[in-house]
Amino acid sequence: MDLHLADDVALVTASSAGLGFASAQSFAREDADVAICGRDAERLAAAEAALESVGDGRVLAVQTDLTDPHDVSALVEDTVDAFGGLDHLVTSAGGPPSGSFHDVEDRDWYGAYDTLVMSAVWTVREAHPHLEDSGAGTWTAITSRSVREVIDDLVLSNAVRRAVVGLVKSVSHEFAPSVRANAVLPGAHETSRITELVEDAVDRGEYDDYEEGLAAWGEDVPLGRIGDPEELGDVVAFLASDRASYVTGVSVPVDGGSLRS
Ligand SMILES: NC(=O)c1ccc[n+]([C@@H]2O[C@H](COP(=O)([O-])OP(=O)(O)OC[C@H]3O[C@@H](n4cnc5c(N)ncnc54)[C@H](OP(=O)(O)O)[C@@H]3O)[C@@H](O)[C@H]2O)c1
Repeated sequence: MDLHLADDVALVTASSAGLGFASAQSFAREDADVAICGRDAERLAAAEAALESVGDGRVLAVQTDLTDPHDVSALVEDTVDAFGGLDHLVTSAGGPPSGSFHDVEDRDWYGAYDTLVMSAVWTVREAHPHLEDSGAGTWTAITSRSVREVIDDLVLSNAVRRAVVGLVKSVSHEFAPSVRANAVLPGAHETSRITELVEDAVDRGEYDDYEEGLAAWGEDVPLGRIGDPEELGDVVAFLASDRASYVTGVSVPVDGGSLRS
């Protein structure tokens, strides 16, 4: 399906790896211009090089720490300066540490809030005027299925991410009709984040080894497997496209049917 994203400008945050990278790749395949970011310069340069060979659009990589509002402001400004505007914002962020209620301390709660919520607040605040100017601007937030159904040993994700879907819903009203805002709720997709979580579960003694843990995660999924990050990226690109022009304020699970709610 042609998503009509060629020559559009997309900024995807936390995108030198994982779900953010996969989303940037889906825009690049449609020949959109894509800006990506991450903290580690080497990883970011590798992602930039990989995306440059994907489509006909341009690629911009900006070293950014999303927990620093000055970095976020520079990221949006650099994107608009390089590409002359901004049509699509996709927010992702690093995952908060795993753990149950008594495992996490106050600083973990504040850290998770900055990483997951404030990074989105700052990015959306900076991007909104440009999304308005686009005429068909979109914001898509990558969150987690944990906003619908709690996941054991992920108390920070379960509690803090709900603020992001509340924000998406609020601005889908406030920014309408010129800007659409939606969220995607990934289930397990095989990225380094999932590798870490499965290894944590192995350390807690829940599985004998990584392979057993990964297979067990896949068994719980009705489609019988962990997702490919590209399967999330393609839904993100679809929601940003005018093929989804009457869709705003929704949270779309991309989880192989895992949610029971
Ligand atoms: N993978 C899944 O199955 C899954 C499922 C549900 C929810 N999620 C959530 O989706 C998000 C992305 O997960 P993922 O699996 O794609 O993670 P990942 O593979 O670890 O990739 C995370 C990306 O975010 C960047 N990043 C992390 N912290 C950053 C910061 N402060 N500033 C700028 N960039 C930052 C990383 O680069 P640097 O480290 O170099 O900065 C990297 O590019 C996380 O919040 C995760 O919890 C993932």
